[in-house]
Amino acid sequence: MAKCIIDIQNVSKVFNPGENEVRALNDVSLKINAGEFVSLMGASGSGKSTLLNILGCLDQPTSGKYLLDGKEVNGISKSAISLIRNRTFGFVFQSYNLLPKTTALENVELPLLYNSEISKTDRRKKAEAALISVGLAERIYHKTNELSGGQQQRVAIARALVNEPEVIFADEPTGNLDSKTSYQVMELFQNLNDKGILIVMVTHEPDIVEMSKRKIILHDGKIIEDIKILNPKNAHELFLAAEGK
Ligand SMILES: Nc1ncnc2c1ncn2[C@@H]1O[C@H](COP(=O)(O)OP(=O)(O)O)[C@@H](O)[C@H]1O
Ligand SMILES: [Mg+2]
Repeated sequence: MAKCIIDIQNVSKVFNPGENEVRALNDVSLKINAGEFVSLMGASGSGKSTLLNILGCLDQPTSGKYLLDGKEVNGISKSAISLIRNRTFGFVFQSYNLLPKTTALENVELPLLYNSEISKTDRRKKAEAALISVGLAERIYHKTNELSGGQQQRVAIARALVNEPEVIFADEPTGNLDSKTSYQVMELFQNLNDKGILIVMVTHEPDIVEMSKRKIILHDGKIIEDIKILNPKNAHELFLAAEGK
């Protein structure tokens, strides 16, 4: 049986406690195993990003428990959590979050700067390999503003991959991309998932969800549906179809 990596129990998140409080998550419990590819869906404001941020240890729940790989996150020191975020997790956001006027290579090298054990030469080699793996061998020295949206998102994915993470958290990774470019990004995610990387992705696009393996729907901070996708669509085939091949 696959190992349980993510296990949250009765998690709630309340913003602005008091009169104007917002209960972004309301008593959510969820288990995710190694190797899964999960989509979080739901209307705007339903709590998707809040849940993703808690799972990625970018934010903490107001109440409830989070066991990450069997260990209670609350009991882990701040520096150990930073290390987990930097080495075990990779993050991809809708707006790419790249440094402007900086080359693709420098953007991807960034997460490695926090690791003094990696030499300058190795840093460069790893960043180059990550950029090649997302199909950007020809764009390594291009600056952020010289790249298309799809290319920028691929640089962001290379940056998320450079530390060889076990889990990738992606918040609306295709939200700013046209459908053909979205399929390319999803193809990358499917390839990474095939290699064993656990992926948790927020999206509100139904066709994107069909390329993952499990659909979780949130409504007003609660999970209202959680279903396995039996035959995920193949992103590469969809890309070829969109190209008219
Ligand atoms: N930092 C915050 N401060 C106050 N309210 C917030 C904050 N972040 C999110 N919220 C509120 O929590 C609810 C869920 O937000 P969010 O998780 O961003 O939803 P989604 O990603 O599904 O659109 C919304 O009502 C939102 O306004
Ligand atoms: Mg959101």
